[in-house]
Amino acid sequence: MPANVTEIATDVFRISTFHPEFGIQFNQFLVVDDQPFLMHTGMKKMFASTLGGVSFVLDPARLRWIGFSHFESDECGALNEWLKVAPRAEAMCSFVGALVMVNDFAGRPPRALADNEVFETGRHRLEFIATPHVPHGWDAGLFFETDQRILFCSDLFFHPGDPEPLTETSVLDRTREAILQNLSGPLANDMAYTAQTENTLKRIAHLRPQMLATMHGSSFRGDGEKEIFGLAAALKEILGAGVVSA
Ligand SMILES: [Fe+2]
Ligand SMILES: [Fe+2]
Repeated sequence: MPANVTEIATDVFRISTFHPEFGIQFNQFLVVDDQPFLMHTGMKKMFASTLGGVSFVLDPARLRWIGFSHFESDECGALNEWLKVAPRAEAMCSFVGALVMVNDFAGRPPRALADNEVFETGRHRLEFIATPHVPHGWDAGLFFETDQRILFCSDLFFHPGDPEPLTETSVLDRTREAILQNLSGPLANDMAYTAQTENTLKRIAHLRPQMLATMHGSSFRGDGEKEIFGLAAALKEILGAGVVSA
């Protein structure tokens, strides 16, 4: 399973491996900078593929930061493999993620990020947004690249298959179909619709992203705020009740 590598924005590379058994893509994102940042590690069993993709862009030993949204095998399963090939790399995750899971799991201590914490990798600046239970997990958070306004949105906008790396056409229809299909499958109830869900989604919409870097499916370039409000409305309709207002 070789990875497909696409530069989707300046210095931002999408490393995509399609897994035929799962029928979905596993996408990592690499921000090339003085302190290179990798978003998601990929699964441990897919490490060779992900490593090959990253190596196509830069020497993996240069990696400095490894960020991920929540504690699952596709988000951080290969973390210790990366820590071995990149001696200066540190994981970055939420305070909850570090305290509850990653401090014990990782071969080296992670950097625990506070909500709204900003860090620079050189030319690029990223902000961490704590988003408990969005897409899922108490420890969840998202990363936002502030110059090109790229939201690394983890499992939000999940859609299956092996679609194009980047589209300027809304991915809402595909996402909505995937949410509906998921309701009757073995992975139903992946997202708890809580009293905070709507406000969390509004919060990330108001970042006004110009790109949504999706972990499973095509990345989207365009009006990210509108796209997230569309997602919020679909989730409320399907998992909650009523209509979301901007
Ligand atoms: Fe997940
Ligand atoms: Fe995922």
